[in-house]
Amino acid sequence: MDVRNLAGKRALVTGAGSGIGRASALAFGSRGADLVICDIDEPGLAETEKALQALGRSVLSRRVDVADREQVRAFATDVHGEIGAVDLLMNNAGVGLGARFLDTKLEDWDWILGINLLGVVHGCHFFVPRMVEEGRGGHVVNVSSAAGYLPGSVLNAYVTTKYAVLGFSEALSAELAPHGIGVTALCPGIIDTPITRSSPLRGELAAPGIRDEMVERYRKRGYPPERVAANLLKAIQKNRTVAPVSLEAWLGYGLKRLAPGLVRWLGARGERSALSGSDT
Ligand SMILES: NC(=O)c1ccc[n+]([C@@H]2O[C@H](COP(=O)([O-])OP(=O)(O)OC[C@H]3O[C@@H](n4cnc5c(N)ncnc54)[C@H](O)[C@@H]3O)[C@@H](O)[C@H]2O)c1
Repeated sequence: MDVRNLAGKRALVTGAGSGIGRASALAFGSRGADLVICDIDEPGLAETEKALQALGRSVLSRRVDVADREQVRAFATDVHGEIGAVDLLMNNAGVGLGARFLDTKLEDWDWILGINLLGVVHGCHFFVPRMVEEGRGGHVVNVSSAAGYLPGSVLNAYVTTKYAVLGFSEALSAELAPHGIGVTALCPGIIDTPITRSSPLRGELAAPGIRDEMVERYRKRGYPPERVAANLLKAIQKNRTVAPVSLEAWLGYGLKRLAPGLVRWLGARGERSALSGSDT
């Protein structure tokens, strides 16, 4: 999809009330797209809406929980009734969970699979058929993560959802290519967003001070969501199926292909030292 000029195009972003979703909605808007945005965080969503309107874009904004199939169905009915098919669909809404497998409850699995995996499936299920039907082509972005190919054990359930989103997107890309619809699995590394504050922590990760250290590590890394959005535009333009974003995401992607055992060893060593507070 040519994203150099998005005037007259409609872009939909889930989880647009914060972080990567908001920055991407604004990046699409600044290239001329009109926006459909949703989130469960209504104040965050209202802020994004205001910023998009300041760019002169028209905005359709709804409170939608992407894990709730009926809410996404009703959302799609509204959107299709008002503007027809979207041209760019970004399934971004997601949550984090810092927990090893042994500390992860079954309720945690329901919660994170519902948002991070089924949320993406719901977005595609309710919006892609109309894109195909209207036949204008377009692009689907599903937000995975570098954790979609790097198996960090302190993020066991999160890693599971992000591997799944990556596989889902790769399979979908072959199916949608004949319809002129590209698919990108976006795989950011360490990005400074509010997700570090909101992710539940379990087991040893729930010890005092660990969250503050994590927030500080992400802040120090200093990679803002706006830079992710700028790289996403390039990835869509190139029709990349898998799009690592940030140096660590690219390094991990390359190393995973060359030496998967080394990646597992480095991951375990990094996690041990992060938890004990020493440098790797
Ligand atoms: N920040 C990172 O380091 C990083 C790295 C790789 C991938 N990601 C992924 O990027 C995506 C965006 O995360 P972010 O870092 O911008 O975090 P964020 O917390 O800033 O934004 C996530 C947004 O999703 C919304 N959301 C959560 N559950 C929802 C639901 N059920 N329905 C609708 N909206 C919901 C939140 O309210 C929030 O506005 C996520 O999928 C995340 O897993 C983040």
